[in-house]
Amino acid sequence: MGQGAVDWYRRNRERSRRLFDLLGAEAYYTQPIALRHPIVFYEGHLPAFSFNTLVKKALGGESIDPRLEALFARGIDPHESAAARPAERANLWPARTAVQAFADEADRQVIDALSQPHLLNNAEAVHAILEHEAMHQETLLYMWHRLPFSQKTKPKGYQPRTAGAPPRVQVMDVPSGRATLGVSRESIPFGWDNEFPALSEDVPAFSIDRHNVTNARYLEFVQAGGYDEERWWNGDDWQWIRSERIAHPLFWEREADGAWYWRGMFDRVLLPLAWPVYVTQAEATAFARWSGARLPTEAEFQRAAYGSPDGSERVHPWGDDTPSARHGVFDFGSWDPEPAGTHPDGASAWGVEDLVGNGWEWTGSTFAPFPGFRAMASYPEYSADFFDGQHFVMKGASPATARELLRPTFRNWFRARYPYAYATFRCVQGA
Ligand SMILES: [Fe+2]
Repeated sequence: MGQGAVDWYRRNRERSRRLFDLLGAEAYYTQPIALRHPIVFYEGHLPAFSFNTLVKKALGGESIDPRLEALFARGIDPHESAAARPAERANLWPARTAVQAFADEADRQVIDALSQPHLLNNAEAVHAILEHEAMHQETLLYMWHRLPFSQKTKPKGYQPRTAGAPPRVQVMDVPSGRATLGVSRESIPFGWDNEFPALSEDVPAFSIDRHNVTNARYLEFVQAGGYDEERWWNGDDWQWIRSERIAHPLFWEREADGAWYWRGMFDRVLLPLAWPVYVTQAEATAFARWSGARLPTEAEFQRAAYGSPDGSERVHPWGDDTPSARHGVFDFGSWDPEPAGTHPDGASAWGVEDLVGNGWEWTGSTFAPFPGFRAMASYPEYSADFFDGQHFVMKGASPATARELLRPTFRNWFRARYPYAYATFRCVQGA
């Protein structure tokens, strides 16, 4: 491990600090997403998870503060916290100074551990804590996204890139061939348990949208009354649309004069028609059905992103080059999406763009283990708790996905009606 792991850990901590620094003090004990913990939890959880996993569990180290280690491992039961009045709710959680003092000591001990040369036996725990923090940074931003603009400070000079006409709708043909899902344990330095072992599938020929479905295309569905017609929706999704009175994507807002807006991270902007639409899997599925298509399977996504005409598979859709800003919108390169069609250098061998970046891509595949799955020792509940047929695989990356996570086998998953993720989609036809 050594210096590389220490550098990555410090880079993670620095970025987390910058994310928390975007927020006003009044946001600290609030809970912008009801199913998630209040913000205070996450400032303690990130260092606590690293400390618990590496120093305590893997290396058998002593506690710093058993109460805080337990609190920040799991949090306070959301029911308990919801029942309390706002003033009491803040009291359930420690003062920020206590959270930060704990975090500083946890960081000191984690960095000390990461600096030890004998850590090779614990490579899985080391990678797990590093990727865990990187993944949380994205989910923190989903929460920040829901806070009032007045509680966030926009970084100097940042402006969402909204200009540009939506690209022409075009479908690309992908011939039949093999797609690799998953990877063998020996062949990569680290993967989460759900990425193992390798699985190869035959994928019949299909055609797939060159670009993500944009706000412009999705607006046609909304204007055609797509949210009023049961036939486009799965049964449970239709119940949800009706009972929650959902009439458009969560990221959209409508003024009395009928104008549509996008709720961005720091600003509300007139709906950027060229941006990929961010929607739930339920909405993506309904749109696809309305347009006479469907969502890709996980195997089709793999084939479209990583396959090539000579039968070999690529490391990234664009090839072997290290991911950079010219290939797509990821690694915190923007706080919002960018227009579809602006990163042709990231196209796959079949000419399909933005498969990695600018928004995760919903698939029609439920999140399930590959045959031979084994839960990982350092974090056994990571995937296994979600193999319930209720979660769907998302692939690719969003603007808030760290570049360390951009590997072909990385899998993300959410429930079909989870509306907060930076998740878009494209349609396929065939087979
Ligand atoms: Fe976590």
